[in-house]
Amino acid sequence: MTHSGQDALLTIKEWGVEGPFDYGLVLGTGLGPVADLVQNPVIVPYAQIPGFPKGQVSGHSARIVAGMIGKARIFVMQGRAHYYEHGDPAIMRMPIETMAALGIKNLILTNAAGSLLEDVPPGALSLIADHINLSGVNPLIGVSDDSRFVPMVDAYDPDLREAFKQAAMISGVTLNEGIYHWFPGPSFETPAEIRASKMLGATLVGMSTVPEVILARRIGLRVAAISMVTNYGAGLFGGAPSHSETKSVATEAVAKMRALLEQFFK
Ligand code: HPA
Repeated sequence: MTHSGQDALLTIKEWGVEGPFDYGLVLGTGLGPVADLVQNPVIVPYAQIPGFPKGQVSGHSARIVAGMIGKARIFVMQGRAHYYEHGDPAIMRMPIETMAALGIKNLILTNAAGSLLEDVPPGALSLIADHINLSGVNPLIGVSDDSRFVPMVDAYDPDLREAFKQAAMISGVTLNEGIYHWFPGPSFETPAEIRASKMLGATLVGMSTVPEVILARRIGLRVAAISMVTNYGAGLFGGAPSHSETKSVATEAVAKMRALLEQFFK
């Protein structure tokens, strides 16, 4: 770990967060309330932690919520940073490496996404099975050792995906499985981009998660990712995505995410 990595770890410990943790959980836009699941939380604002992202998108908190969910010790990141905020695709590197230093081996990522499938409507949850990134942007550009050549087969861990499908079944939550196409944003996609995306095999579109998956796989974390669908992709089934729509996701969808995660951590 880098010098500032040690500082981040030290600060987190000074605030009373003690590892080891079983899971890291990153909560995306609109999903902040899921952190209410944490019992006896210890809270640390990102602004206090060296190397953690500053300046958040509206609709995001910016703090660590650490504690137990069921029998699992969880390190929740309530809010993330995106490439489009800073132009740095590795903006989440410090948090991810800090989680690894706290003993975390499994990272659960959540996000808000657009759906390209009519039968996966706004309010639905979708497990990410794989992704498409043809943007030319990658968080490992500039890393000079061989760790940059990260294999991306089964980047979305098959065992974790199976466990989420089980948890969905038990908790009665419908969970489809999809392919997430990363767009750097911050403007939404054009209808032509969405049609192209669909032809390429994507079922979801979004502006987060993918750089985090690459960074996490580089250091050997097992990753799972779940999208909460907030809208149809631009031009599809009347879809005209906007940030206010993304933020005002049905509380019902947030409740589903809570139920799914609560069951998963049991
Ligand atoms: N496109 C990109 N990102 C998104 C969308 C979308 O339609 N919805 C929520 N995040």
